[in-house]
Amino acid sequence: MSKPLKVGLVGTGGISNRHMAAYQEHPDRLQLTAVCDVVESLAQDYAKKTGVDAIYLDYEQMLKEADIDAVDICTGHNLHAPQTIAAAEAGKHVIVEKAMSNTLQDCRNMIAATDKAGVTLMIAQHLRHSPEAIAAKRIIDAGNLGDIHAARTHVIMTGPQKSWMNDAKAGGGVLQTNSVHHIDLLRFFIGDVKRVTGVCKSAQPQMTNGAEDLAAATLEFENGAIGDLFASWTTYLSPVNPSYMILGSKGTIHSTPASTATDNAPVRHFGLAMYGLKEDVPRDQRKENPFEPLDTSDIMLPSSSFFVNEILHFEECIREGKEPVSSGHDNIETMKVLFGIFESARTRRAIDLAEL
Ligand SMILES: NC(=O)c1ccc[n+]([C@@H]2O[C@H](COP(=O)([O-])OP(=O)(O)OC[C@H]3O[C@@H](n4cnc5c(N)ncnc54)[C@H](O)[C@@H]3O)[C@@H](O)[C@H]2O)c1
Repeated sequence: MSKPLKVGLVGTGGISNRHMAAYQEHPDRLQLTAVCDVVESLAQDYAKKTGVDAIYLDYEQMLKEADIDAVDICTGHNLHAPQTIAAAEAGKHVIVEKAMSNTLQDCRNMIAATDKAGVTLMIAQHLRHSPEAIAAKRIIDAGNLGDIHAARTHVIMTGPQKSWMNDAKAGGGVLQTNSVHHIDLLRFFIGDVKRVTGVCKSAQPQMTNGAEDLAAATLEFENGAIGDLFASWTTYLSPVNPSYMILGSKGTIHSTPASTATDNAPVRHFGLAMYGLKEDVPRDQRKENPFEPLDTSDIMLPSSSFFVNEILHFEECIREGKEPVSSGHDNIETMKVLFGIFESARTRRAIDLAEL
């Protein structure tokens, strides 16, 4: 039995609380040995809850002094590149929250630094670590949905009001903050995108430096499928939450909007309760509602929390020398879709992602 991976977590704000259970519940595989935040009270509170003695207000100092093999980066987007590169230079493995970074060049620099140091880089795309996403992918990969013709995804919600997420300089905006999850999941299901056309708008006064709170885009996938993306933080009230639809020649998979969730089909975080057309029934014999919950009964994941699963996947990849499911090399393709949409909105033309 190998020793647990020793981790230092930086950024003890909102999302770090979702990561906490991985460290509390899996001491055989993960040992949180240091925490860091520029706000001392937040770092102290997190350290108390996780039983950590080593508290840092300075990240570089944590890298230099703490007994750690890896870092878990839970800070805002504009810090992801410098903190990843510094960790790589200190020889530490990195799991970093989405979105990977603010610019494509930053993403490339993160990959180059971690490759050079020979350490693992994983982007925390937690939606890939749910039973529903794995079941949907299995159906698609087995060809049971037929040829994938199209996909739709939307996020329609009231956005943050006073946060770094409202500021483009900090990496804010609805695409980098929310749609990055949904774009990544569509890539997981369908494959890479080759061309995008998009429109972005900054509609509300709290959005600064041009951060978008509305976006619409068309994605052209390598396999010929067409994707339709819509994102709104300008919503006063919405009947639906983030959702997906994947249209194949033999069936459709869709997620249940929150408003229609039932006890049998609970909506998980980000509305990822997938339904599929189970049988290839002739058109005239189809039931009025042929959708049934995807069978996830034989998908064994260590935890019911996809945040815990993603961190355990990171540990497993390091232990076994495997590439993570959303490595830097993989995730940069998700980021190209985002930056392609920004570029298309700016230039008012379709963008081939190979140009970026
Ligand atoms: N996967 C998800 O569902 C999900 C949800 C929310 C946020 N996130 C991601 O998590 C990351 C953080 O978001 P959040 O909502 O937790 O933000 P947050 O603002 O709540 O937390 C960030 C923390 O980083 C600290 N910090 C800032 N600068 C620092 C520095 N130089 N050194 C050390 N600490 C520093 C802040 O004090 C704060 O406590 C972002 O990448 C965000 O997109 C992911």
